[in-house]
Amino acid sequence: MNGMQDDNTQDPIPVTVIGLGHVGLITALGLAELGCSVTGTDADKEKLALIQDGQVPFYEPGLPEALRRHLDAGRFSPLADIDQAIQGATAVFVCVGTPEKPGGAADLAAVERVAMTIARNRNGYKLVVSKSTTPVMTTQRMSATIDRHGDQSHEFDVACNPEFLREGSGWHDFLHPDRVVLGVSSDRARDLLLRIYEPLDCPKVVTDPGTAELIKHAANAFLSTKISFINMVADLCEATGADVTKVAEAIGLDPRIGPAFLSPGIGFGGYCLPKDIRAFISVGETHGVDFSLLAEVERINLSRIDRLVSRLKETMWVLEGKTVAVLGLSFKDGTDDLRESPSLGVVERLLAEGALLRLYDPQAMDAARTLHPERAGVLIYAGSPYEAAQGAHALLLLTVWDEFRDLDWKRIRELMDVPLIGDARNLLDPATLRGLGFEYFSVGRP
Ligand code: UGA
Repeated sequence: MNGMQDDNTQDPIPVTVIGLGHVGLITALGLAELGCSVTGTDADKEKLALIQDGQVPFYEPGLPEALRRHLDAGRFSPLADIDQAIQGATAVFVCVGTPEKPGGAADLAAVERVAMTIARNRNGYKLVVSKSTTPVMTTQRMSATIDRHGDQSHEFDVACNPEFLREGSGWHDFLHPDRVVLGVSSDRARDLLLRIYEPLDCPKVVTDPGTAELIKHAANAFLSTKISFINMVADLCEATGADVTKVAEAIGLDPRIGPAFLSPGIGFGGYCLPKDIRAFISVGETHGVDFSLLAEVERINLSRIDRLVSRLKETMWVLEGKTVAVLGLSFKDGTDDLRESPSLGVVERLLAEGALLRLYDPQAMDAARTLHPERAGVLIYAGSPYEAAQGAHALLLLTVWDEFRDLDWKRIRELMDVPLIGDARNLLDPATLRGLGFEYFSVGRP
């Protein structure tokens, strides 16, 4: 690769992706799929070695095949030497983490470190593209850092190109986006990014970098608000005997509202929505803007776990010494990610109540074992949903995995000591389950 390459030629654009986590690896392989010549680098040498060996370090459908394909074709090269990786690229995509600091603000130390590293490797024009979720104005800081610490004879731009990838369908989302947002401060940066994303047939929203950063936070905050809104409505449905699924269906038919993200349950989890809403609240505070709406969204979300455990207690009376089967541990289906998983919140509450747990998840068992090691008689990991149900006094369904929908519920009824189901995601049909002899409750449904 040649860092001095003219970005107006039609040769593959040399691109480097820094940070090969969930967003970074999908971005790197996605850019390879779009025709770029991609180098990927990560400070975690073990992770990099796995990727060099063709292994994806996390569960994400479609990604292992894409990794193999692009490694074999030489369109994606994982490289440990970050200096070399930057020097060889025209566009440098920054995909490092922005974890949460105490108080909710985003920790930007890794972003600053990468900006300094890019600065000292300026050897020609560089387009630095931030994909990390950052508070509005961070790209200005990156720009100032690169300007201050690098060889000023070489031009550069810093752009913001937020990602909207969902875990579990991130590969599909990259290749079939609803929109691509390009926050740029020069025509050169705009033209290069438009060229990179040219194969994607979707609206391209071109704006300034700060607005692009704000778009990302606003999108996640709005999705969180929809979820807390429908959870609040579900509470009212439970109090009045109304049906939240019908409410969601009917309001969702209004195109101004839309049907997505109106499923009530045990709340939103994962590495993005909970962290981003707290970071956005902190951005509001920094700029003296009243974001108490979002504080309320978070409060409603956190109260979901209490509500479910209280409901279970109300139904079972005493939880101490009772065996509860828990199906679904990851924060949602399609991933093995346990970060801020509401299911784990429920598990911890049940343990505190003295319940005995039999846990099962299609993908997240290994990760769960490291957080909550097996304890004979208190917490065991079952090899299947049926094994989890064996001898249980209640079964909680906490994640929308497809395989749970199609279980042999008649068999489960026979395996359980007490046929009680708490369906915290409204996955099953109440009439069918009651017809099979289960006592059954779900969220906001009569
Ligand atoms: C989210 C956004 O959806 C992506 O667009 C964004 O790019 C990503 O964060 C990010 O910032 O990187 P993700 O964290 O993968 O993606 O998860 P979602 O599919 O958004 O689900 C989040 C949580 O909300 C899950 O716990 C899910 O079970 C819950 N949820 C979702 C509901 O409780 N109800 C719904 O109707 C929808």
